[in-house]
Amino acid sequence: MSAVPAPVAPARKTLPTLTPIPRRRYIDPAFFQLETEHVFKKSWLVIGNESEFPNVGSYVTYDVPWAPVVVIRGKDKRLRAFLNSCTHRGAAVVREEKGEARMMVCKYHAWSFDLQGKLVSVPQRSDFGDLNMEEHALNEIRCEQWGGLVFINFDKKAMPLSEWVAPFGNQYDHIVNAPLKVVNKRSYTIRCNWKIAVEAFVETYHVPVIHKETAAQVIQSHDTWLELYPHGHGLLAPPYRPDVLESSEWKGTALRSTLKPLDGYNFVTHVMTPGLFPNAFISFEAPGYPMVVKWPISVNETRIDLFWYGRDWGDQEMPAEWNDRVAAFHMLMLEDVDNLEPMQKSIEADPERKVPLCGQEQRIWHMNAEIDRCIGQDNIAPELRMKNADLLDPFITA
Ligand code: FES
Ligand SMILES: [Fe+2]
Repeated sequence: MSAVPAPVAPARKTLPTLTPIPRRRYIDPAFFQLETEHVFKKSWLVIGNESEFPNVGSYVTYDVPWAPVVVIRGKDKRLRAFLNSCTHRGAAVVREEKGEARMMVCKYHAWSFDLQGKLVSVPQRSDFGDLNMEEHALNEIRCEQWGGLVFINFDKKAMPLSEWVAPFGNQYDHIVNAPLKVVNKRSYTIRCNWKIAVEAFVETYHVPVIHKETAAQVIQSHDTWLELYPHGHGLLAPPYRPDVLESSEWKGTALRSTLKPLDGYNFVTHVMTPGLFPNAFISFEAPGYPMVVKWPISVNETRIDLFWYGRDWGDQEMPAEWNDRVAAFHMLMLEDVDNLEPMQKSIEADPERKVPLCGQEQRIWHMNAEIDRCIGQDNIAPELRMKNADLLDPFITA
């Protein structure tokens, strides 16, 4: 089926007992501010796929909690990201969620910016006296790609994206480079801290309980292959259940689907779900993938953006099976989401409670240790710090 060999799960490592995570990290407004400044504003954040920008001038706007952003394709075909904020008095230069433009023209007083963010025209310019056009270009944010995946970074000094995603190696290259189309997008706003939302997607310990009738019918969660990677990234790869692998339906069709798999798709024994620190995971499925991104709105409010991308179906109608797959995943999401608000409430009611974590929950611990590394433990109140923050360092796959 593929020139790329299927990945093989290594033997599971035996971990030391994980120290409990201070629960006040989930409710403390000052700690939330530190996370926003030192984690989110300095990390590469995945925001979409290049298939959403088919032409020169194609753009998408993003409601990043601390900054409005527009990503637009330039005449040189490059994607660039800008603050969606006019350099006159700050109105949005692009108001629509997506579209195509030859120029970004502010809807307030019609200052015009080209696709590279340069200010090119100002109505009644002489009325400003000595206005330096060059100094009023749009504020550019770093924007780079991993294959077709588009990332932004608010830190001008951050490492290149290629270095940030290097821990994933080349095992996803054939998938991230695949030509795709957008199948579906939706958002869920939840009253919980962003880490509670992220943590629901980095372990499968909960699968036999919460997803008993859904995911548990397909995967063998207690055998999940887990990896901890540098920069806080990780892998969650539950194997398919043997009865699912053996079923004639599985063998007889393109991986339980009427949809054609992505070229070179080779994840036939495990659901490969890489987690991108701090806030995203992708579940690589045969004909395409859902990508789930969590945005911290406030200390107790999170927006989850769910993107679905499918193998490019050309000029045809979107294959109907996608509707079923999207609906099934939405059910799964609701099973997770319904749990998150009560968890936040219970932490708020009892913030000093100690919570033990098992080996299957190691990525929760790894993520929190990385948060402390980003912030610097000296900047964190002692009672909120992760204890023995280097405890899992020997278990990080280099
Ligand atoms: S705020 Fe954009 S032109 Fe005035
Ligand atoms: Fe779940």
